Amino acid sequence: MSDRATARLTNYRALPKVELHRHLEGTLRLDTMLDIARQHGITIPEDVLRLSNLVQMQEEEKYSFQNFLSKFNTLRLFYRSPEAIHRITREAIEDAAKDNVRYLELRFTPVALSRAERFPLHDVFDWVLTSARDAAKEFGIIVRLIASVNRHESKELAEQVAWVAAENQERGLIGMDLAGNEAEFKSEPFYGVFKEARQAGLRITIHAGEWGPAANVKEAIEELGAERIGHGVRVLEDDYITRLARERGMAFEVCVTSNFQSGVVPALEAHPLNQMLDRGLNVTLNTDDPSISRITLSHEYHVACDDLGVPMNTLKERILAAAQAAFLPEKERGELVSQVKKDLKF
Ligand code: HPA
Ligand code: ZN
Repeated sequence: MSDRATARLTNYRALPKVELHRHLEGTLRLDTMLDIARQHGITIPEDVLRLSNLVQMQEEEKYSFQNFLSKFNTLRLFYRSPEAIHRITREAIEDAAKDNVRYLELRFTPVALSRAERFPLHDVFDWVLTSARDAAKEFGIIVRLIASVNRHESKELAEQVAWVAAENQERGLIGMDLAGNEAEFKSEPFYGVFKEARQAGLRITIHAGEWGPAANVKEAIEELGAERIGHGVRVLEDDYITRLARERGMAFEVCVTSNFQSGVVPALEAHPLNQMLDRGLNVTLNTDDPSISRITLSHEYHVACDDLGVPMNTLKERILAAAQAAFLPEKERGELVSQVKKDLKF
């Protein structure tokens, strides 16, 4: 990186940040993976470069959602003990805090974390929530958790996740998310689960309009009760649905680099972030999977401003918009918004 690029990144690092869309399974440090592999006898390449090929997008590989999602096959091998889950959660929060993220909604996939060792779901929730609470205190950052379910899993498993999530609302578990392969799996089997989750008080965000069409955004809003949309960039393909989303003030959790690396857009410069802003959509900027993409939220702010030409003032408005879209109770959300406003010198 040139000196100028480094200096610019330092400016973005100094901004107070709000992250609404980050997957725990996409935040593992390479060194930590190697340590855990050694401790638990997991057979993976022992040198960092070869491991990187398996868990991070490489410049020379085809940028497709299949390649992007394939990284999780290796990333899910590391949840071998409560200690490993504790370390991964703590480091994810430490890394966010170091990047000056003030408020983090971290999502995790309980079924994926429980699978390697057949841990009971409620233990997985307990370990992640306890580690997140302690790390938030240690690193001075506000953290809330969202439970993700994948489209390719059964609705029965999703129901179990929703049950345990609902029981943990007092411990920082605030929402549910539908993730995974949107191109090949439908949301319909999950309508009932998300309705129950909503009724239990959980907040809802849905990956939609990323690898699937604009109609999936409408479905997420109307059938799954989404209050925010993960990605949603393909909403622009439909004028009516774009207007619907704008009128409802739906927050979009946009992740520019992830969209490029997973084949949603053919080049970073082709990302429709500016069109979304021009259409009055409530855009927020997020990382998705910082370790897979080798990015930070500061880097994403830099891409938005320096590669896509978003003005600094608009970036600040979008940080504030993210605080306003936080899944926090009214009073806490108001406090977060006031604090972010003050720190951004608005
Ligand atoms: N889309 C769907 N599922 C995911 C993603 C994504 O971008 N990242 C991690 N799981
Ligand atoms: Zn995501």
